[in-house]
Amino acid sequence: MTTFGFELLGSDGQARTGRVSTAHGAIQTPAFMPVGTAATVKAMTSESVKATGAEILLGNTYHLMLRPGAERIAKLGGLHTFMNWDLPILTDSGGYQVMSLTDLRKLDEEGVTFRSHIDGSYHKLTPERSIEVQHLLDADITMCFDECPPFPCEKDEVARATELSMRWAKRSRDAFVDRPGYGLFGICQGGVHEDLREMSAKALIDIGFDGYAVGGLAVGEGREMMFASLDVTTPHLPTDKPRYLMGVGKPEDIVGAVARGIDMFDCVLPTRSGRTGQAWTPGGSINIRNARHAEDPRPLDANCACPACTNHSRAYLHHLTKADEILGAMLLTWHNLHYYQDLMRAIRQAIGEGRFSQFQADFAATRERGDI
Ligand code: GUN
Ligand code: ZN
Repeated sequence: MTTFGFELLGSDGQARTGRVSTAHGAIQTPAFMPVGTAATVKAMTSESVKATGAEILLGNTYHLMLRPGAERIAKLGGLHTFMNWDLPILTDSGGYQVMSLTDLRKLDEEGVTFRSHIDGSYHKLTPERSIEVQHLLDADITMCFDECPPFPCEKDEVARATELSMRWAKRSRDAFVDRPGYGLFGICQGGVHEDLREMSAKALIDIGFDGYAVGGLAVGEGREMMFASLDVTTPHLPTDKPRYLMGVGKPEDIVGAVARGIDMFDCVLPTRSGRTGQAWTPGGSINIRNARHAEDPRPLDANCACPACTNHSRAYLHHLTKADEILGAMLLTWHNLHYYQDLMRAIRQAIGEGRFSQFQADFAATRERGDI
């Protein structure tokens, strides 16, 4: 039986590399988790996601409880079986999605009542129900139910949401059924406020979790404030547990957050932007729909081993996206996920070899040159 755990394998400054062990295998950190909201990483088969090097996916409580339903997925053997993904899965708890996707919601001490964005039907999420749904999905990593305040937001309001989230964290912990290989992560809130971040981190540590997420960032505060918030948060988190920055981000955000001690990331950016023609490369992002690519026989990125880059020209990818062909979305998503996993591999290697500062400098210089 696997026990859930985190092994620190190396560090360089605040940057860390390690391994998280779960019931469905181990993941190397720093790790990027592709987003598989509705039991699919959009435009990708599970095999193709695996081929990019991804070792863990993110799923969403909110979407899956509404459609097809958590009990149905459980009856069909859980989310791994349902979507043919036999590696680890982390599920977000739903509160964040309720706030960003629904109107007409009501939040109180008990939880959140909301109307489905799909059919308008009424639903309630509480810490207890969120944890139960994530159990039914068979998530290897379950996230606490929390409230993520918007940005900007009055400090009093951030404090209220943070205190509520800490009471919900305790209820989440109490509702979680401990099993070997399965872990529960707390979520630190507090916005951009140092005292609230410290209070939140301490409250979570008192409860005790298998990992600690930093929530409430990447909500519009900008990179500088996000990094400043991380600077006053990660020092309060245990060093012997994984740390996960939720909803981040752009490649430069990831590199900067790794430098501040973060081990795990998720973001819709590589998948969502792949569907609109945006491709990420070491030199920056390019829009393949731009007319300058129309007759360009070169690959998207000559150094990328993905199918879009090894089999096709920029001209072809330009044509596919201009013609709104499904294959365009598939190939660009594949490329973007491949690029993100190459980036994480390079980050892990640099930390392991004690040259992460040099890696950061090289990463910034390549960006600066912007040779794409
Ligand atoms: N995704 C991005 N930010 C957050 C957050 O603060 N809480 C949760 N649950 N999910 C997130
Ligand atoms: Zn590629």
